[in-house]
Amino acid sequence: MGKASKIINTVVLVIFLSCLFQWPIFYGLVKLSIFSCNAIYTLTSPSLATKLETTTPSLAVKPKATPLKDAFIESVDSQTVVVSREQETSTMLPELTLDPSKPKQQALHAHGYAHYPFVHFSAYRDSGKTFFLIGITSVVARDFDQPVQQCEWQSLNNGSQQSAPTVATKAHMIYVYYDQLPRLYVVAMVNCTFEEEVGIENEGGLLFITVSVGPHQGDTERNLAFEEKIGAASDLITKRNNPPSLRIAFCGPPLHGNIRADWILHWLVYHHYLWKGSAHFFFYNVGGLGDSHRRVLDPFLKGGYLTIIDASDEKMFPSWYHNQLLFINDCLHMTKYLSSWTFFHDLDEFLFVPRPRTLDQLLDQNKEKTFITFGSIPSVTSLCADPPLKASHWFVQRFLWMQKLPHCVNDEDPWVCLRGPGARKYAVNPRKMIAAAVHGTSWPSEGGIDLNATIARTYHYHGVLSAEAKLCEKKVNVSLPRDQLEQEFPEVQQYNYDLSMSKAVTKARKFSALLLKTL
Ligand SMILES: *[C@@H]1O[C@H](CO)[C@@H](O)[C@H](O)[C@H]1NC(C)=O
Ligand SMILES: *[C@@H]1O[C@H](CO)[C@@H](O)[C@H](O)[C@H]1NC(C)=O
Ligand SMILES: *[C@@H]1O[C@H](CO)[C@@H](O)[C@H](O)[C@H]1NC(C)=O
Ligand SMILES: *[C@@H]1O[C@H](CO)[C@@H](O)[C@H](O)[C@H]1NC(C)=O
Repeated sequence: MGKASKIINTVVLVIFLSCLFQWPIFYGLVKLSIFSCNAIYTLTSPSLATKLETTTPSLAVKPKATPLKDAFIESVDSQTVVVSREQETSTMLPELTLDPSKPKQQALHAHGYAHYPFVHFSAYRDSGKTFFLIGITSVVARDFDQPVQQCEWQSLNNGSQQSAPTVATKAHMIYVYYDQLPRLYVVAMVNCTFEEEVGIENEGGLLFITVSVGPHQGDTERNLAFEEKIGAASDLITKRNNPPSLRIAFCGPPLHGNIRADWILHWLVYHHYLWKGSAHFFFYNVGGLGDSHRRVLDPFLKGGYLTIIDASDEKMFPSWYHNQLLFINDCLHMTKYLSSWTFFHDLDEFLFVPRPRTLDQLLDQNKEKTFITFGSIPSVTSLCADPPLKASHWFVQRFLWMQKLPHCVNDEDPWVCLRGPGARKYAVNPRKMIAAAVHGTSWPSEGGIDLNATIARTYHYHGVLSAEAKLCEKKVNVSLPRDQLEQEFPEVQQYNYDLSMSKAVTKARKFSALLLKTL
């Protein structure tokens, strides 16, 4: 045999074997070349050709499915994820079979989150004719106008079994302006205003909403949104026609994660004093307040000053900061005919009005305003008086260094830096307000007053609420003479040494001593 025929024989053998075993490189080359593997199969054995033909589609699928699964396992911590058999098979693409005795099985697998046009959280009667539903909407569904189309009222007829006819009205969606980054869900409200008053005979009733569930007019769903108890309507009308029974309501942010119970108690003690015992506090718990926290807050719960609203923190409806905006607006409507002023700030913020003014004076001077906003001065929580000025001092009394200027991320006058850039917080006259945001009101956004931070401010102890936060990293001996102190701790010169909050908390502890018994 000549050299040339040896080479030809080798090439033919390689082509044959690569077709048979589908060696990746050669198989590809052969398929691209003028040779056809099918021709080679047919040449060798017709049955082999059919076998390979029918299995080829599944071979084409399997290599795809395997890397998909591997990538999934690689991308997560292997210790925390166990891929079950079931999951494994469900992530596989189905095998294509031409055997009619085996029906092809295939299912839909959702990825990500569902975009509901309206997820309702609460509902409030506003007058004889009007109800407001408070909820969230998907930012995507929000682009399709009017997902909630109709509201219907059905009287409960004082509990009699006869079902009453329903009254219907057009629903108006209110898309609330938000001052935080939108997540998948943002706040929305529904205005249900009937032509005539409904349910004001105190007979109780049901409010239904009709929601569009598709692109076609007729695709709708009718759901119960609110049940009014017998007698509840006149309670609301009475409240509406009288001055509010409460001077101050406070609406807290959603409490989540591992938080410090003692800090919350101290915050309550201070604000109970600031508002002279005239405030009722509403806290929204999304898993941060456990039984041990409740025991610490017991004096305020038992004293009737604090209401904890346990709300679910639905992973299914991702929205900014555990639905903070939803709870703000729920609380606004809940307190609408309850309080003269409703305050919205965080539990790491302490509201303060320097002398000679008082908060009461400011509220009375501005009682015709729709809202009042306050500047924010960051406290330095890494520096702390150690040893404390008094052995019994709480953390908030040991943070004595404050930034010299209020928080402001633009170059306006930092003392009147508005809304988010100034990290402002605010109080509203809830009767004059439809919607609220985090750093200011949403609707109306006019008719209020923005106070210079020299007049009213919050001291912001950023991050202290978390039980994991490291407080007092730098211990400053404040008994040292001033020049020696500045020599040993040169960083204190960047800040204001400010005892106002420490002193105010001392007074607050005296004010609340009876309530807390132990202080
Ligand atoms: C609610 O709807 C009624 C009827 O359309 C309207 O008169 C009223 O101004 C609306 N209120 C708000 C807050 O949108
Ligand atoms: C329902 O009962 C209340 C008190 O019992 C009564 O004042 C009211 O008129 C009744 N309403 C109707 C519609 O029957
Ligand atoms: C706010 O108060 C500061 C400090 O007193 C002052 O410098 C500033 O001019 C005030 N701003 C306004 C707009 O009144
Ligand atoms: C703090 O300073 C005072 C005054 O100089 C001194 O007597 C005291 O020992 C210092 N305390 C600590 C813990 O260094």
